[in-house]
Amino acid sequence: VTCAAVVPAAGRGERLGTREAKALCLVGGVPLFVHALRSLGASGRLSAGMVVGPPQRCEAMAAAVRAARLDVGWDVVPGGATRQDSVGRGLRDLASDVDVVLVHDAARPFVPVEVVRRVVDAVGAGADAVVPVVPVADTVKQVDGAVVVATPDRSRLRQVQTPQGFRRSVLEAAYTAAAASGAPGQPASDDATLVERAGGQVVVVPGDPLAFKVTGPLDLVLAEALARQHG
Ligand code: CTP
Ligand code: MG
Repeated sequence: VTCAAVVPAAGRGERLGTREAKALCLVGGVPLFVHALRSLGASGRLSAGMVVGPPQRCEAMAAAVRAARLDVGWDVVPGGATRQDSVGRGLRDLASDVDVVLVHDAARPFVPVEVVRRVVDAVGAGADAVVPVVPVADTVKQVDGAVVVATPDRSRLRQVQTPQGFRRSVLEAAYTAAAASGAPGQPASDDATLVERAGGQVVVVPGDPLAFKVTGPLDLVLAEALARQHG
């Protein structure tokens, strides 16, 4: 298979609350998204990649990519208002020979190579769509305002990480269908959701706590500590 990655990195990072765009925040002296690119590349499974950045920060991101001297060639393109828009933008310019696409959050700096390889290999083995998952630690309640209406059986729930892997044709068809349906309801917060809405089957492989997403300030404390260990 020929595998390429799309890395959405165009978010503001409202929950992190920093001035700088989240993807460009320094962790161990290196921009967050550069850690993510390194972690993906270390898998040895990627032929190329697209980073989707905030329009005003694409120049800075391209400079950071050059400075990092990565093994994989990464292009930087401007993203959109939602994660779904940004990934859609990244999908547009993939080379014609790419048949497997990984979509990975720039905000997940330390995904282990084993997770990346499990995802790519499961698509290579014939799955249309693959997501890495971990068990849910806390009990989850469904609420209506301040009132609990249901408690789903936690043993059947999973937290979903990235990279998510797709047969390219399946992901492109799911994005085309989402655009054509005039986007009713919420934009999808992950890519597998669009495949599910299009009627496709999504399978799970084991994720890893190290594939956590930097979302709030506490996550940045953890990321800094891990960056010191990583060297
Ligand atoms: N993302 C994107 N384009 C957007 C919104 C999000 O490329 N319009 C990316 C983010 O840069 C991030 C990934 O999608 O790498 C996961 O999103 P999230 O963790 O929610 O990041 P933000 O949207 O930046 O954070 P917040 O929701 O707190 O504002
Ligand atoms: Mg967001």
